Amino acid sequence: MPEIITAKSAGFCFGVQRAVDTVYEEIARGGAIYTYGPIIHNEEVVRDLEEKGVRVIESPQEIDALESGTVIVRSHGVPEKLMNRIESSRAHCVDATCPFVKRIHNTVAAQSAKGDKIVIIGNAGHPEVEGIMGWSLTPATVIETREEAAAFNEKTQRTLCVVAQTTFNQNKFQELVDILKQKGYNITVVNTICNATRERQEEAKRIAAVADVMIVIGGKHSSNSAKLYEICRRECERTFFIQTRDDLHLSLTGEEKVIGITAGASTPKNIIEEVQAYVRTDI
Ligand code: F3S
Repeated sequence: MPEIITAKSAGFCFGVQRAVDTVYEEIARGGAIYTYGPIIHNEEVVRDLEEKGVRVIESPQEIDALESGTVIVRSHGVPEKLMNRIESSRAHCVDATCPFVKRIHNTVAAQSAKGDKIVIIGNAGHPEVEGIMGWSLTPATVIETREEAAAFNEKTQRTLCVVAQTTFNQNKFQELVDILKQKGYNITVVNTICNATRERQEEAKRIAAVADVMIVIGGKHSSNSAKLYEICRRECERTFFIQTRDDLHLSLTGEEKVIGITAGASTPKNIIEEVQAYVRTDI
């Protein structure tokens, strides 16, 4: 029987787990529950919540139309104006913004109030980045690529306060900061990258390096899961990318000594446990 190693960092990070737990706690409390945007990009979780009566709302107009109930803000956070709108609506607001994201909001608010120009290294279309932008008192600039960093030439004497989207790549962040530094700006860098993603990737790599078979569980459209697969595949040729236990068709030779399991950030614990149990008992 091969040894099965499941990554400790597999699945939800602290902030997402906290937000999902918050929704289930609110369900237990009763009343109409809404999440502003899907709480997590995992179809099964969102479906389960829907069955329990949780509705996803997507626009501020929908908030204004609510007569009562609870609106939960997910781990990505929202812009200050939107937060105020939810808080002043007829619904009750429960803020499940990840504390690490909240810290960026506070930095951006404080530094922009002092007169700094806010630069966010991240993906402009991402809800977390839109949320961060919305806490700056002055217009913030989002930079994602080398080209965008090279093209940045705001004529300003103000200090640039540079923060990062929590899931941004560390090396790329450093590279973009260096490009900005070469331009002679006075810069304060607040590295707000969260370690959860890096830790998950490093642990996956370590396990895949010793595994004969590696299983990566994640959503089809989840980019962090695809990245995990890519990292594991480099270390272990027999790496499988599956969504649920049903996708798993292992044909083992009997020679395998170690089977590794990891999962992307949006994979719930029960799916990881199902795969673990299946590997343990059914192969
Ligand atoms: Fe997760 Fe919060 Fe980090 S949502 S990735 S623990 S910033």
